[in-house]
Amino acid sequence: MTDYKENLEIQQNYYNNTAEQYDNWHVNIPSALVVNNWNLKNLKSYLDHKSIKNCLDLGCGTGRLSKDLLTISSEVYGLDASEEILKVASKKYSQTPNLKWFLGEVTNIPFSNDFFDLVVVNGALHHFFALPQVCKEINRVLKPGGVFAILGEPNKNYNKYNFFWYTFIAYRIWVKIIGIFKRNKLSEDIEPDAENFDPKILKKTLVENKFMIDELYSYDYGPRLNNKIWLKNYNRILVWEHKILAKLFPLQGSALQIFCRKK
Ligand SMILES: C[S@@+](CC[C@H](N)C(=O)[O-])C[C@H]1O[C@@H](n2cnc3c(N)ncnc32)[C@H](O)[C@@H]1O
Repeated sequence: MTDYKENLEIQQNYYNNTAEQYDNWHVNIPSALVVNNWNLKNLKSYLDHKSIKNCLDLGCGTGRLSKDLLTISSEVYGLDASEEILKVASKKYSQTPNLKWFLGEVTNIPFSNDFFDLVVVNGALHHFFALPQVCKEINRVLKPGGVFAILGEPNKNYNKYNFFWYTFIAYRIWVKIIGIFKRNKLSEDIEPDAENFDPKILKKTLVENKFMIDELYSYDYGPRLNNKIWLKNYNRILVWEHKILAKLFPLQGSALQIFCRKK
């Protein structure tokens, strides 16, 4: 666990130091909002549009998903290891009832056994550096049959022959050119290392920790463009890709989505 503790400290320092910029860098981006809504829609349809009692947003950040989870769950608990990130979250949603924030870390979730109906990790599992321990801990706090949803997890096996890879590379080149003229570094350039997963390893670890996998598929993050035509069609592309491409070329997209249940 030494590695875990070292990484935890790195993550805490980074997110504490950049908490005020987090939303501008990651949340208030029109294309990120499209993906967020798409993720939530998929989660709702996986849950068969049924409401649940309580839910944990693990590694909740500034709570972009936590608040939306209130449309599914009567109570939402957001847990994060960064004190400053949680300050931003609680300030943003100070008027929102049934949303509670907890400072803590993922290998020691401060809730009793069989407590939650749903645990969601949105774009954060690769920041934890403790996959087996986290799966075990999530299994412990979930009720039997409770759902664990992993959303927007980078795919280690991202296929470089994928159409989106080329648009992504073109976009990165464009960003680098802009970067030459910008004084401030881009968030991506100062982010600490993350642990991207091979979908096979994720699947194996979940099964070993007593989860039953119902859905595992990939999709693609498109470029973060503010172009109206792109934004209008991005959701359609995600739906189309999910229905067709993800079936023809399974698990080749840049992001992974997993819905599983505690046995
Ligand atoms: C990329 S952010 C994702 C935040 C949020 N889920 C979202 O969608 O915006 C990763 C978050 O994980 C948190 N984090 C990293 N390691 C953690 C750990 N070991 N325990 C709890 N939270 C952790 C960070 O503080 C950060 O807020």
